[in-house]
Amino acid sequence: MIEVRNIKKRFGNHEVLKGVTFSIEKGEAITIIGTSGGGKSVLLKHLIGLIAPDSGEVLVAGENIDRMNERQLLKVRRRFGMLFQGAALFDSMTVAENVGFVLDREQKMTPAEIAKRVEEVLTLVNLNGTQKKKPSELSGGMRKRVGLARAIAYRPEILLYDEPTTGLDPIASDMIDQLIIRVVEETKVTSIAVTHDMRSARRIGKRILMLHQGKIYTDQKPDDLFKSEDPIIHRFVNGIADLKETSL
Ligand SMILES: Nc1ncnc2c1ncn2[C@@H]1O[C@H](COP(=O)(O)OP(=O)(O)O)[C@@H](O)[C@H]1O
Ligand SMILES: [Mg+2]
Repeated sequence: MIEVRNIKKRFGNHEVLKGVTFSIEKGEAITIIGTSGGGKSVLLKHLIGLIAPDSGEVLVAGENIDRMNERQLLKVRRRFGMLFQGAALFDSMTVAENVGFVLDREQKMTPAEIAKRVEEVLTLVNLNGTQKKKPSELSGGMRKRVGLARAIAYRPEILLYDEPTTGLDPIASDMIDQLIIRVVEETKVTSIAVTHDMRSARRIGKRILMLHQGKIYTDQKPDDLFKSEDPIIHRFVNGIADLKETSL
């Protein structure tokens, strides 16, 4: 479904991605872990053509997106649902308007069909009944769930999550993790979650990729990763700082 081939990206003289290669099969759920500022969000933006690599290639469903124009990219982005940090809901709109936003804009469904789809996806995230509320009336965890409902409302083939649990308390995080697992199971969507929350990474990814110093340092099943004796992996997954490390 997605193939990333040796992508490199620098901003000024800061080389963020130094040759990143990986691929994801249709229906797979993976997580990408790595230190803050390590380039995880930059990597996700390459997958939807919001950032172009300096070199290397990104293929989505077999198509190279790097040389696409804006109109072609819009078609590719239509395959993706995105839950970005902070959920990014429109505060002036109700929950139902937020969730149905893309469906409404595309004008392919009647208002009644949209209302039905909004109810379905809100039910999936345990929020049916909140349709008329404004985002400001909801807790942080509930806003993330509205963001999740909005991301899946138009039935994307691929879901991208950027730090879905950051800023949430452990219970709200657990709820989001369980819902992400439910969405993957019920919709068979391909999913890529970026996180530095190790508990979350372990639960929602069938494979974990670790981005370290601009490259995929490891690509393993969660149980193997957590048992790893490699010092870099071991320190990262167990949150052990190295006082000699000066770049942090
Ligand atoms: N548009 C941009 N222009 C310049 N530098 C950027 C831009 N986007 C990200 N960066 C830099 O790239 C690095 C990686 O950022 P990011 O991908 O957001 O890290 P992460 O998501 O892993 O925390 C950071 O040093 C950040 O400042
Ligand atoms: Mg980020």
